[in-house]
Amino acid sequence: MPELIVVPEPDEAGELVASKVVALVQNNPGSVLGVATGTTPLVVYRALRRHFEAGVDFSKVRAFALDEYVGLPAGHPESYASVIDREVRQGLGIPAAQVHVPDGDPAGLDNAGQRFEDAIAQAGGVDLQLLGIGATGHIGFNEPGSSLTSLTHVETLAEQTRIDNSRFFDTLADVPHLAVTQGVGTIMRARELVLLAFGQAKAQIVARALEGPISEDVPASALQMHPHLTVVLDEGAASQLKR
Ligand code: F6R
Repeated sequence: MPELIVVPEPDEAGELVASKVVALVQNNPGSVLGVATGTTPLVVYRALRRHFEAGVDFSKVRAFALDEYVGLPAGHPESYASVIDREVRQGLGIPAAQVHVPDGDPAGLDNAGQRFEDAIAQAGGVDLQLLGIGATGHIGFNEPGSSLTSLTHVETLAEQTRIDNSRFFDTLADVPHLAVTQGVGTIMRARELVLLAFGQAKAQIVARALEGPISEDVPASALQMHPHLTVVLDEGAASQLKR
């Protein structure tokens, strides 16, 4: 059973999860963090920046992103490499060489997954992986139907995901169709997982992921099998849980 924490406000979740990350880093300065993009984890990154400003040293941390769009030009502000650089790396003083994002360059897709898996393995695996959940039930960009044991691979984004993420782009047509994502199997290898979700709109998928059958139809349902999962929700996102 995961540890489930329900907080009144996302900011509280940010503080709580940031404290967990800080404890990890203070215990082992070279910890390997798995970082997510999207809106949900921003409260955690904001709280971590406050810890950095208060003197916590993140300079030895290694960070691995969950995913990257395929085909955005290098330096595109919505590429996940740019987002992680802006939201995580710069604010915490992590050297750029210690931050890894899957390579979404179409020219290198054949082995992008393997290269990313090799980098994670070389770092000794992920200590703590932050996760959000998509409306489709995706974690990373593992959309419904994805294997629950897959490693980093190229995935076709569900149309719902493209629509949801079009808020970051000028038009829906600008949202890439493909991404390189850690597989569910990659995510499950992390020693500790923290899933965050906020708002009523996530309530139904959160309930299916945590209380429904474990199935490729809801890739996040695989999280039920992880031995060290913490779920942090606000009241809206928790509102359809039965247990
Ligand atoms: C982000 C990622 C996705 C998001 C999910 C939720 O790297 O892999 O699984 O966590 O799409 O996104 P938000 O937080 O924007 O609702």
